[in-house]
Amino acid sequence: MFPIDHFKQEPTPFYYYDIHLLDETLREMSEYSSPYGFHVHYAVKANANPELLKRIAAAGFGADTVSIGEINAAISAGFPAAKIVFAGVGKTDYEISEALKLGIGCFNAESEPEIERLEENARQQGKIAPVALRVNPEIDAHTHHYITTGLAENKFGIAMEMLDHLISKCMESEWINLRGLHFHIGSQITDLEPFKILCQRINTLQEKYADVAFPTINVGGGLGIDYENPDAHPVPDFKSYFDIFHNNLKLRPQQQLHFELGRAVVAQCGSLVCRVVYVKEGVGKKFAILDGGMSVLIRPALYQAHHKIENITSKSEMTETYDVVGPICESSDTFGTEETLPKTSRGDLIVLRSAGAYGETMACGYNCRPLPSSVYSR
Ligand code: LLP
Repeated sequence: MFPIDHFKQEPTPFYYYDIHLLDETLREMSEYSSPYGFHVHYAVKANANPELLKRIAAAGFGADTVSIGEINAAISAGFPAAKIVFAGVGKTDYEISEALKLGIGCFNAESEPEIERLEENARQQGKIAPVALRVNPEIDAHTHHYITTGLAENKFGIAMEMLDHLISKCMESEWINLRGLHFHIGSQITDLEPFKILCQRINTLQEKYADVAFPTINVGGGLGIDYENPDAHPVPDFKSYFDIFHNNLKLRPQQQLHFELGRAVVAQCGSLVCRVVYVKEGVGKKFAILDGGMSVLIRPALYQAHHKIENITSKSEMTETYDVVGPICESSDTFGTEETLPKTSRGDLIVLRSAGAYGETMACGYNCRPLPSSVYSR
């Protein structure tokens, strides 16, 4: 499956992207969303690699962004400005003003002071700002607490109690065009039930605000992927996911439904490839020490996430148990404990699977290590 001979020539660590799998994922996402007329904006935060962005843009999807840097990356990759939405709790005046100049499709506003800045910037430019209000629907997505975002009191979104006031504020402003409501309940959600609850919450809100026009409803992202068994589920179950919204959400006539999927689009097509620098014998354990660690893939250290680990070059029939660790000076720099791998030696190539989302984008230069490079299937 991996082009091992090619990998042997490459300096490690690097991210490998299976472009065929990305294309297949995009095809299925389209196949199951377009018959319902749904619009998907890819969440650029999951991976802003220009090669991937170009393919996602060319497949006709929009972009969901959280900084002017992401907006510029999306525009360079070919996403039309009108198909870019801009979320985030801390949009600066500079970001708002640049995004307005570019004519992006929608600002997903997260607070009253932000709405005031949007209005002021729009007035200065003599342009009307398209705005959706990000509502906190108070749903527990049963995912890691660092990536649960829809609960009542957190830094994201607007509490339902404050919605009356902010809807009126937007409607009264001549510089704001209220486009609709935006939601996002969390990430890596594998049980689809919370999405059903989200639909019910939205139905209730739409009834409550029956006299307010919401041309779009945006339900955010969050669809999870199979980290333990990537080969069994290389493409997420988009059909069940989109069906949930089709079957449970009561859209008004002409109302558009938007999604902001990130992980589900790019996670499975990416792998982190590292080399074993040393196999170290501890008192009762063996450590496989890699040349890439938490500075290139932070998810295990930050969220106790586990990526499937494979030794792709060992020819040994024997297996052994290893703690697979990185070279960074932190104990949390561990990719897996007691991993069963074929007998592993210095120089072997180790792959961390399902690393296409929140891998390369979250890499940093800690310990003055270089950022990882990327290799693509052809
Ligand atoms: N929309 C909004 C408003 C978001 O905050 C996010 C992700 C998404 C869409 C895309 O969610 P996705 O479809 O990828 O689940 N670094 C963490 C995940 C952070 C997610 C942040 N927000 C991780 O590696 O698990």
